[in-house]
Formats: sequence, C-alpha cells, structure tokens
Amino acid sequence: MWGGRFGSEPDPLMQAINVSIDFDRHLYRQDIAASKAHAAMLAKTGIITAQDAKRIAHGLDTILSEIETGKFKFKRALEDIHMNVESRLGELIGPAAGRLHTARSRNDQVATDFRLWVRDAIDGIDAALAAYQRALAQKALKHAATVMPGFTHLQTAQPVTFGHHLLAYVEMAARDRSRFADARARLNESPLGAAALAGTSFPIDRSMTAKALGFARPMANSLDAVADRDFVLETLAASAITAVHLSRFAEEIVLWSSPRVGLLRLSDAFTTGSSIMPQKRNPDAAELVRARSGRIVGALTSLLMVMKGLPLAYQKDMQEDKEGTMDALGALAVSINAMTGMVRDMQPDVARMQAAASEGFATATDLADWLTRTLNMPFREAHRVTGKIVAKASTAGVALDKLPLKVMQAIEPRITKAVFDVLAVDASVKSRAVYGGAAPKNVRAQAQAWLKKLKV
Ligand code: ARG
Repeated sequence: MWGGRFGSEPDPLMQAINVSIDFDRHLYRQDIAASKAHAAMLAKTGIITAQDAKRIAHGLDTILSEIETGKFKFKRALEDIHMNVESRLGELIGPAAGRLHTARSRNDQVATDFRLWVRDAIDGIDAALAAYQRALAQKALKHAATVMPGFTHLQTAQPVTFGHHLLAYVEMAARDRSRFADARARLNESPLGAAALAGTSFPIDRSMTAKALGFARPMANSLDAVADRDFVLETLAASAITAVHLSRFAEEIVLWSSPRVGLLRLSDAFTTGSSIMPQKRNPDAAELVRARSGRIVGALTSLLMVMKGLPLAYQKDMQEDKEGTMDALGALAVSINAMTGMVRDMQPDVARMQAAASEGFATATDLADWLTRTLNMPFREAHRVTGKIVAKASTAGVALDKLPLKVMQAIEPRITKAVFDVLAVDASVKSRAVYGGAAPKNVRAQAQAWLKKLKV
C-alpha cells in the first residue's frame, strides 16, 4: 500500500512489532461506515464520480457481510484494518477502490474509527449500568425496612437498612453514567478531513461526513484531530472509577457471604464449588469483579504513559491505545453485568442482619442523642455518659436495650424509661428520617424515585 519508495520487503520483526490487525479488526464496522460516509461526500463535492462512489459503497457492503459471516481473510502482511479493507475493495471493484483514500489519511481514519468505537462502547456501558441500577433499586425497595448494621472501620457503627446500602451503589452508578455521558459529549466531534495532520487541499465537506457519522461537528484543528486521545483517556478514567466502585461492592459480597459473617447468600448461579472441598460455595464472580478493576485501572495508566510527552501530531505510539482499551471496556461490561446478576439473585439473611445490627451497641449514638435532646446535655457530655453505659452493658454482656433502667440511672439519674424508645434498632433506623438518611420510608421513596427515573 505504501511500497512505492521502498526497494526491499520489511524485516519479519518489523511486521511483528508493527502489525495491529489482530486487535484493530474490531474496528471493521466503524471503518466501513466512515469510508462509506467519506466516499459519499467525495461524490457530492465532485471529487470522485457518482459511479465510483456507488461501486465503492457496494464493495464496502460486500466486505462488511464477508467479515460478519467469517468469510473475510484478514492478512497480517496488510498491517491494519484500514489496509485490509482497502486491499479487499481493490480485489472486488478494481481501480475505483484507489480513489477512496483521496483527501484522507490513516491518521484521521483511525482517529475517526476509534472515536466511533469508543462511542458505541460507552453506549453499551451506559445501558449495562442502567440495568445494574434497576436491579439495585428493585432489591432496595424490597428491603427498605431490612435492618442491618452499618459499618465504619468495618466495626458496627449504627443500624441502617439493606435497601439504604444498595441505594448508595445506585448513586455511585449514576455519577459513573454521568462521567461517561460527559466523555461521550466531548468525544463526539469528527476528526475526518484532518487527513495526515494539516487538512487537505481538496474541497471536501467535513460537516457532511461529521453529520453522516452522528458527530456533532468536525474538529476545529487538524493537528489536534489526529493527535488527540483524550477521548480514550476520559473514557478509561470513567471506567476505572466505575470499576473501583464495583470492586467495593464485590468485596462486601465476598465478605458478607462468608459463613463467618452470613449476612448474604448468593445464588448457585453466581457461586462455584471446590474440586476438593464439597461444602464450598465460592463467590468467584464477585472476586473476579474485584480483581478486574486492576486491568481496567491498568489500561488507563498504560495509555497515560503512552501519551505523556508525545509531540504533535500522530505518532505510531498511539496505535497502543487500542488493545488495553478494548480489553478494559470488555472487562467492565462483563463486570457490570455479573454484578447485576448477583444483585438480582442475592438473598440477605434478614434475621442475621437484624441480630447483627443489635450487636455491638449500634444504638449508642441514639442514646447520646436522646440524652442531648431530652436532658439538654451538651453532646460531648452525653457521649461520655453513653460511653459509661456501654461499658456496663459490655461487662454484663447484654445489648443496650436489655440493660436495666436502674443501671443506667446509676450513671445518670435523670434517664427515664422513655429512653427505650430509641434503643431498639428498628426505632433507631426509623428515626434517621433526615433527607438522605436510612429511615425505611426514605429508602422506599428513593427506590421508587429511581425506578421511575429508570422507567421500570
Ligand atoms: N494502525 C494505525 C493505528 O492504529 C493506523 C494509523 C497509521 N498511520 C500511520 N501513519 N502509520 O494507529
């Protein structure tokens, strides 16, 4: 394709390091769509004949179906997807194929193809995240009043509800989606027509190709158009944050489904057995979601390193943008879908959650709040008094709401039996009625609002 000035064949090692068809073949759909848009524009502007454009479009359609039916022979000697398609086009339609590359370069071509590919991937991720949110909100609605311990430092902190916990992940996924939407809006400009780096002397219509490919507008600077990979970096950054969010939930699933904790039961569909220990139900899917965040964060780090210090405009280094990105976005999609499946199937052990919430003096803050509110104690003083009462309960080995009133009164005589209204976990959770709090009625309202927003 570019052999005109070369006297000898490339070294086999040159091919080994240079070839990208093994991964950029995944761009075939975008490459063909962009070529069709380009050819139609070349005809409309009178740069090629309508006849040739028709032949080109027809040939490209044939190639598309050859690839989709597995009949297409990808050749490593032809380096990449662009040259594989163009070479096959020549075999199919003859010399007219050579006119397709008028007023473009592989530099603007690959930038266009990959933008389209990343845009499609973002749309897929967004739909997967919406399904994940729906599954979470549905489960949250069902468990709006299922009391469980809330943790800080992994120590029992205050009672919350399982629904409230799940809705926290709905919020995270909403921010993730909005980061992807931002990245999508910024990437949606067309590099096509920037050609190698300087634009072209042909009277092309960049707005026409931009519009045909669903871009909002052509990119304003030809050097930037071929040199920019921000769109990949931003998408990987959004992916990395999403993956980190998923890994936090995955870790909780692993932990909570351990028999020693027993707050959650995964379905058989999302656990595996052991080849030696017949009793085992391993949370492999959750563990793999937790682990895959590594690859996804790695893809971001790797491309940041590739781009750092790269002079304008196109450098071959940038060919390294694809493998990690394709792998990362694939891993992310599978991770989200696996989490959605686990959420749909998971069963909290309601009784154990309730019991666990009652352990560890989880309503100590409620007692301190009661002392502050009812006895007008400064909160710091109430905190000290509560500490003493907790110490008594701990020594006696009973929960706060099982401690006799007179034991409490020995520490603070003004305490009345009304205090028991706040010491039970259900009362505690109910009282967290502030906006954003864990009260079941809040959780129910939030879950319903999400389900409405997500149209279920
Ligand atoms: N395979 C190349 C890539 O992915 C396409 C662009 C090649 N451009 C070039 N001037 N060699 O980056």
